[in-house]
Amino acid sequence: MQERQQRQELLGRIQRRVDALPTGLRDHIYRVGDIAKQLAPIHGIDSELAALSMLAHDVARAMPNEELLQRADELSLPVGTVEFAVPILLHGPVGAEILVKEDGLEDPSIHQAVYWHSTAHPELDSLGKVVFLADKLDPQKAAAYPYQPLLNQLATEDLDKAVLEFLSREIVSLVSRGQMVHPKALEARNRLLEASA
Ligand SMILES: [Fe+2]
Ligand SMILES: [Fe+2]
Repeated sequence: MQERQQRQELLGRIQRRVDALPTGLRDHIYRVGDIAKQLAPIHGIDSELAALSMLAHDVARAMPNEELLQRADELSLPVGTVEFAVPILLHGPVGAEILVKEDGLEDPSIHQAVYWHSTAHPELDSLGKVVFLADKLDPQKAAAYPYQPLLNQLATEDLDKAVLEFLSREIVSLVSRGQMVHPKALEARNRLLEASA
């Protein structure tokens, strides 16, 4: 009962953060929330937990680069070569830490899902994979990820295969455009490849 009340209070605090975000971002959050809610039970994950994680995933997405770097410094988050060059990658980590420090988030699974939703991570659990994939399955991202139908199919069948497919394609795309690749994305892909062999 107490756990339920705590989750309701956390939900209220996250909802207030989402209410203050720009409309376009809020719409994205609700669209991917619906996708995660459908995906979650297929993989034995509580829909409400997936919905809460999705609501939380982009709370820091509207912060300008300077603020992300400043907050990362204040929160003692690691800022490597890639984060320094592409500070937007810090919106997951900064958001996750704000939820813990200011909103009382205690669930490590939600924390990791929010923290790594941009790059993935070799230790992501099923909830983290659902959050990662639902975020990429937003129909508004069809131009960036034209292979969404395949990703959607894989996401319902096998979360690992879906994350591996996305990471392989995204890494190739980043390299072909001369962009940096986050080391955790490479590590996550290596781990998934190893597991699929
Ligand atoms: Fe995001
Ligand atoms: Fe997102």
